[in-house]
Amino acid sequence: MDIRYLGHAAFEFTHGATSVLIDPFLSGNPTAAATAAELHPNVILLTHGHGDHYGDIVPIAKRTGATVVAITEIAGELEGEGIADVRNANLGGTVAFDWGSVKLVPAWHTSTTPNGTVSTPAGMIIEIGGKTVYHLGDTALFGDLELIGRRHAIDVALVCIGGYFTMDRHDAVEAVRLIGPRQVIPCHYDTFPPIQTDVGAFKADVEGSTASEVIVLAPGEHHSA
Ligand code: NI
Ligand code: MN
Repeated sequence: MDIRYLGHAAFEFTHGATSVLIDPFLSGNPTAAATAAELHPNVILLTHGHGDHYGDIVPIAKRTGATVVAITEIAGELEGEGIADVRNANLGGTVAFDWGSVKLVPAWHTSTTPNGTVSTPAGMIIEIGGKTVYHLGDTALFGDLELIGRRHAIDVALVCIGGYFTMDRHDAVEAVRLIGPRQVIPCHYDTFPPIQTDVGAFKADVEGSTASEVIVLAPGEHHSA
């Protein structure tokens, strides 16, 4: 299973003929590694409504016919935008596909779409290609990350570390300790001035104090999980 970092919190997971895109903020993203027009996902996942995650979801979904998974309030908005295949799950729920599944789990943050739809934000646990990937979404450090790590053996955690809008790199070390993933890919940092951080120090702190391996990807780089 291939993971491609597209910049900020956007990733693409590819296994066989299946391409899953998450949080496709590309237009207006100074670190975007692809344009919206270059992507051909089968499925698009959205952790919450903020513009730096919602991004290009509507034009990509309309062009490709991709299935969209979002929490129910945002799912309703996206159906109203004319996206044909929207799965309106909620926290704790799992959406099953023939290639795997997507589970919504809590994240401590806020969520309003560019169109004003207010909802609860989510993290997402994606089972694809025999691997379990946990995209934390935007979140603060919170204790139930340990519960999520107890329920799911996480192969790769995609962890926000930039601070200001989310937990910072220091809180993110504790988040990794609670979850216990095999590997960690940091994200949601260095996109804008308020979220600049020292990713090398994060890697050193995690690998010096937990059993997890940190893989730092520049936007556009791939990781084979
Ligand atoms: Ni956000
Ligand atoms: Mn964000």
